[in-house]
Amino acid sequence: MPQVTFIEPSGNEVQIDVANGWSLMQAATSNGVEGMEAECGGSCACATCHCYVESHADQVPAAAANEEEMLANVAAERRPNSRLACQIKMSDELAGIVVRLPEVQY
Ligand code: FES
Repeated sequence: MPQVTFIEPSGNEVQIDVANGWSLMQAATSNGVEGMEAECGGSCACATCHCYVESHADQVPAAAANEEEMLANVAAERRPNSRLACQIKMSDELAGIVVRLPEVQY
């Protein structure tokens, strides 16, 4: 299974094997990764699964219009690599991806 590395707000790194098709949000919440809230459960309606994608910029599919709208509401600084983790599905192309969680989600 492809692996993701989450960098928690403290700087702690957590590596998780993720089945293809699972979202990065599901991977983080089901493994207790700090810094992921995901209040809406993956409906692209809360923006509390904000993350910074630190690698694989060319492999991560572009954000859809509704994700772009929600990214305008993130609590932490929005950066060029800001994404919503519930909208990124794991795939073989994303094996080894590194994702940083922000200090705040509210
Ligand atoms: S979990 Fe709510 S927008 Fe991603």
